[in-house]
Amino acid sequence: MNVNSYFKIGREVTLFFLLVFFTSCLTNVEEDMTELEPNACADITFATTVKPIIDANCIQCHGSGGTLPELTTHSLLQLHAGSVKSEVVSREMPKQGSLTQDEIDAIVCWVDSGALNN
Ligand code: HEC
Repeated sequence: MNVNSYFKIGREVTLFFLLVFFTSCLTNVEEDMTELEPNACADITFATTVKPIIDANCIQCHGSGGTLPELTTHSLLQLHAGSVKSEVVSREMPKQGSLTQDEIDAIVCWVDSGALNN
């Protein structure tokens, strides 16, 4: 083995350790954030938080028998979870109304946690 291939191996080993180093940094950042902000979604459930928001702000237009996506039950909301999230985040919905930032955050939490029937 000549001097050049030692350099090559040295560079690869260095890159490898740099990668490991940065990966562990990233992991630490995530852990730190979790510690600073204890899971904000932990208290959000469908029954106690999301359903009341939808009932008060959406179903007057998104009830059954209309042409709009129906949002009256958990399974229907789960079916439309992705568009419900984007509509409230963009504040396109509720039409002719508005949600508080907390209400929007709660819906986002619920959808991002899998839109569970909890
Ligand atoms: C005053 C009536 C009204 C209310 C209240 C309302 N919507 Fe809508 N919604 C509409 C109409 C009308 C449309 C059809 C698209 C449009 O006109 O923007 C729509 C469309 C949608 C769509 C489908 C968007 C698409 O991709 O086509 C979703 C999802 C939705 N609304 C969610 C909600 C949610 C969630 C709420 C409550 C936070 C809500 N809406 C409240 C009238 C309403």
